[in-house]
Amino acid sequence: MGYSNRFALGLLYYIKKLIFYLLYTQKVDTIKLKYGGYIVFMNNNNRSQWDLCRFIKTLTYFEVFPVLNWIQKLFQGSPKDNQDRPKEGRNMAVILVAGATGGVGKRVVKKLVAQGYYVRCLVRDIEKARPILGDDIDLVVGDITKPETLTSLVMANIQAVICCTAVRVQPVEGDTPDRAKYNQGVKFYLPEIVGDTPENVEYKGVKNLVETAKKYLVPVDKKTIFDFTKPSDEIKNIWGALDDVVMGGVSSSSFQIRENTAVFTGNVSTANSGGFASVRTKNFSHLLDLSGYEGVKLRVKGDGQRYKIFLRTESTWDGVGYSYSFDTVANNWLDIQIPFTDLFGVFRAKIVKECPPMDISKVCSLQLMLSKFEYDGALNPAFNPGIFALEVESIQAYGGETLPQFILISSAGVTRPGRPGINLDEEPPAVRLNDQLGGILTWKLRGEESLKASGIPYTIIRPCALTETAGGKELIFAQGDNIKGKVSRDDIAEICVQAIKEPKAKNLTFEVKEGEMAVNNPDWKKLFSALQADK
Ligand SMILES: NC(=O)c1ccc[n+]([C@@H]2O[C@H](COP(=O)([O-])OP(=O)(O)OC[C@H]3O[C@@H](n4cnc5c(N)ncnc54)[C@H](OP(=O)(O)O)[C@@H]3O)[C@@H](O)[C@H]2O)c1
Repeated sequence: MGYSNRFALGLLYYIKKLIFYLLYTQKVDTIKLKYGGYIVFMNNNNRSQWDLCRFIKTLTYFEVFPVLNWIQKLFQGSPKDNQDRPKEGRNMAVILVAGATGGVGKRVVKKLVAQGYYVRCLVRDIEKARPILGDDIDLVVGDITKPETLTSLVMANIQAVICCTAVRVQPVEGDTPDRAKYNQGVKFYLPEIVGDTPENVEYKGVKNLVETAKKYLVPVDKKTIFDFTKPSDEIKNIWGALDDVVMGGVSSSSFQIRENTAVFTGNVSTANSGGFASVRTKNFSHLLDLSGYEGVKLRVKGDGQRYKIFLRTESTWDGVGYSYSFDTVANNWLDIQIPFTDLFGVFRAKIVKECPPMDISKVCSLQLMLSKFEYDGALNPAFNPGIFALEVESIQAYGGETLPQFILISSAGVTRPGRPGINLDEEPPAVRLNDQLGGILTWKLRGEESLKASGIPYTIIRPCALTETAGGKELIFAQGDNIKGKVSRDDIAEICVQAIKEPKAKNLTFEVKEGEMAVNNPDWKKLFSALQADK
């Protein structure tokens, strides 16, 4: 069969499906057309005019019948891939990487992006950073030694900071343009510091970054899903109305993003056996993983009516949603806490018996609804048809464990200079030459101390000599600052990324080197759990 025949058959199939949907599922009798006029299927004086255009708009918005989107794209052009898709963890929560152009930093950025994080890179020189980090990365200019450059532009919405900065160390005889001698990490060269001092970068700079970040970091026992006080373009494009027009009704609603809130508002009507209005997100492009949290919290101001929220784990248009009803008090801001255990499966307003508990690691969309009905035909006791409004300030997950929010790469050896009984001949160059290198390790230790004193949940990673070799070897974590050896920058970057996800990594300081064995998937929880948290 030729392409055009196949296309015609496909189109016919969808048109038939649409007509069936209209006539049999929607119990439609009068259809309003966009440019005036209407179609009457049967005569029923109790029924109101139904809006075909809004119906099609809804189906198109939520991509129910792909052919409608295909036709839309044909006329309007194709939008950039996923440009209006909410990305898990990308709406608000930013991971700030300082030292992003460095050997470890650039690997941290790559790994974070691959895992769907929204990454912001603090760099001193955009021109230098762009080719290293690529065109799609958010770069902000700043210098940790200059606190005035650590502005709200740098810090807005940060969820965690990964600090990979360092003073510049190089062989006295000079290095290659790509710093090959410094980067290889194992062969000895006589080193010197060039540029700024260790005191400025490793201590004062780190302290500046810590103290500024502290003002912006919000505790991560919460996870912001939507923060309408700081709406991004993504947020504006993903909530759409889904009203009883899909069942033949005439209610209508919208989700309006205002200055500091979003408002779910409209007119709910019980005509044509309808009686609900709702707004729903399109399916997230990255599933929202809420594991480790107790539930979701809404900050809302309503009008005294009872609303519903749905969380969905099925990407299908008409599937089971996990629901909870909540009451509002007119003109009062309320925090509505909904434990996941209180959500139950609902399909078309009927409770699904023996529905499996929701898989909170795979949330793909959210919905807010005002309905005449509760569940299984029961009426909503606090429902009034007509104009309604529910203001929403934020939607968060709550009750999560505290995660590290400041990851600092320090160095093995920071406590060894001046340690009684130490045999310097057996120590790595940075320990032996600490004084000649401007007290590099001593200032790194002071940087660590400033982080510990800040009260921010942290992880301090102290690598042995860094190499450019591929990662994937067994990792040996130790405490007490006695080990010597080497470790791949790739593995250090991976530890940083794992630490921001692992509550067991909170308030740990540890050294790390690699062993001989290759290890495919390290058990990160086990590695972190084996360590003692700092006092
Ligand atoms: N090399 C080793 O064997 C070894 C061993 C143990 C621990 N470490 C530590 O491991 C960490 C990562 O090392 P690495 O080899 O990846 O370092 P690196 O390649 O030298 O990178 C250092 C980064 O810090 C940035 N930076 C320097 N001063 C800054 C400032 N004032 N403000 C903002 N950014 C600044 C640099 O930016 P520019 O691009 O603008 O210069 C660069 O992105 C460092 O803390 C290092 O001390 C290294």
